[in-house]
Amino acid sequence: MQIGELLQKSGGGLDAEVLLAFVIGVGREYLLAHEEEEVDLRLEDLFFSYMERARNGEPVAYIVGAKEFYGLDFYVDDRVLVPRPETEMLVEEVILAVRELGRPAKVLDVGTGSGCIAVSVAREFVESGEIDFVDAVDISADALEVARVNALNQGVSEIVNLFEGDLMEGIDEVYDVIVANLPYIGEETNRHVAEGVEKYEPKSALFGGGNGLDLYERLFEQVNELGFGVLIGEFCYGQGEEIQELLDRFFPGDFVIKKDLAGIDRVFIVQGNYAN
Ligand SMILES: C[S@@+](CC[C@H](N)C(=O)[O-])C[C@H]1O[C@@H](n2cnc3c(N)ncnc32)[C@H](O)[C@@H]1O
Repeated sequence: MQIGELLQKSGGGLDAEVLLAFVIGVGREYLLAHEEEEVDLRLEDLFFSYMERARNGEPVAYIVGAKEFYGLDFYVDDRVLVPRPETEMLVEEVILAVRELGRPAKVLDVGTGSGCIAVSVAREFVESGEIDFVDAVDISADALEVARVNALNQGVSEIVNLFEGDLMEGIDEVYDVIVANLPYIGEETNRHVAEGVEKYEPKSALFGGGNGLDLYERLFEQVNELGFGVLIGEFCYGQGEEIQELLDRFFPGDFVIKKDLAGIDRVFIVQGNYAN
């Protein structure tokens, strides 16, 4: 079958394009420019088997082993959460905070997963020297192996330090910028999770206790004790009021909440004062 016919027969769409391009070993733009090219029967079968897996909810990023995030190509597999486009907002906020600091920043990424935040931030500053280092911690040794691949692939392994740990347990560094995209899906309330996500992505990357904010509560206690410059974190749809209450309790008057492009409360930014 020809490329154009295959896309049509499979129903088209972004997933079909990504999977067909992967199977043939070309970029997506190649497909549109070569619609009449014949595809080998073996590759055709492989493409339809991948389409079937995607239809059953398996993330396309796991099938092809890659996901674009903040304009960079990340290696991903089922040991890590697939980086989400809304998380790019965290990277933007970290970059702003580093620039405002005006001296080389010490940055920490808590719950680094694929390393997408730590590596994107490091890449932004690797040549300018505006960053001292990016420490990145995760409780999952498996996830850290994926993050290591990404730090190496993106040429930032010299400034990204990966640690296995439980939030900031045992850490005594005072960071200029701390960023966290912790598991925040609630197990009792705020249980906003799609079937495919729950079935395929690591549970330890998704769930954050009763209302989803247990890990943030523990992190807030830890950073309050240690002191910090700025703390930036992501939460989910429907948690705006609860996170506001939690932030009020730990950092009264020192935080703002920002909306994502869809107009949903998504990110909190806390100004610390380094004192402990
Ligand atoms: C929602 S994922 C985010 C991954 C990545 N930062 C991103 O934005 O795509 C949360 C990550 O936190 C890690 N994690 C869960 N509990 C943790 C804990 N107590 N301490 C450190 N990391 C934890 C998980 O293993 C997972 O990799």
